[in-house]
Amino acid sequence: MKPLVINTTKGIKIKIRNFEMPDIRRVMEIEEESSLDGDSALYMELYEDWPAGFMVVENDDSVIGFVVLVLTLEGDGRIFALAVDLRYRGWGVGRVLLKLAFNTLRKRKIGFVRLEVRVSNQIAQRLYRSMGFIDVGFIPLYYKDGEGAVLMRKVL
Ligand SMILES: CC(C)(COP(=O)(O)OP(=O)(O)OC[C@H]1O[C@@H](n2cnc3c(N)ncnc32)[C@H](O)[C@@H]1OP(=O)(O)O)[C@@H](O)C(=O)NCCC(=O)NCCS
Repeated sequence: MKPLVINTTKGIKIKIRNFEMPDIRRVMEIEEESSLDGDSALYMELYEDWPAGFMVVENDDSVIGFVVLVLTLEGDGRIFALAVDLRYRGWGVGRVLLKLAFNTLRKRKIGFVRLEVRVSNQIAQRLYRSMGFIDVGFIPLYYKDGEGAVLMRKVL
């Protein structure tokens, strides 16, 4: 994807571009403060599997968020991770990243997208429902700390 410069609905200017290797340090910082469960080796592996599925957001030349997409064996899309730097949450960045994720999957003629989200993560669940996801299941003990996940799915 060509880098995209846009203003979010809440008025901050961001640049979205494909992930590059030097971004990994910032990506891992944001993922750690976001209580996601990945590790850098896994992120790099997913990037190598599908580079166009890993996008980062910049504000003033610094990475403030990212989304990682995966193609499942069943031929669906999966949002493996989505996170925004704590200091930039609530400015519409997450919503922009999701829209871009949907478009990226549609270009690959993918019909469905799914994701897992912590049961306690009401903010993300609200965002996903407002973008057309519906709850389709529950996975107990999904996260390393024992928390369960809500499984959500959306038609693209
Ligand atoms: C989920 C997350 C990516 C959203 O990113 P964001 O840039 O803050 O999201 P946006 O500003 O686009 O807000 C989108 C919606 O999220 C909800 N939301 C965002 N911040 C909120 C807050 N502080 N309180 C309540 N709802 C909130 C609202 O529904 C909002 O929609 P609205 O602005 O139309 O009301 C971000 O909160 C995050 O990184 N969380 C930690 C990681 C995570 O939970 N990832 C998803 C795991 S599957």
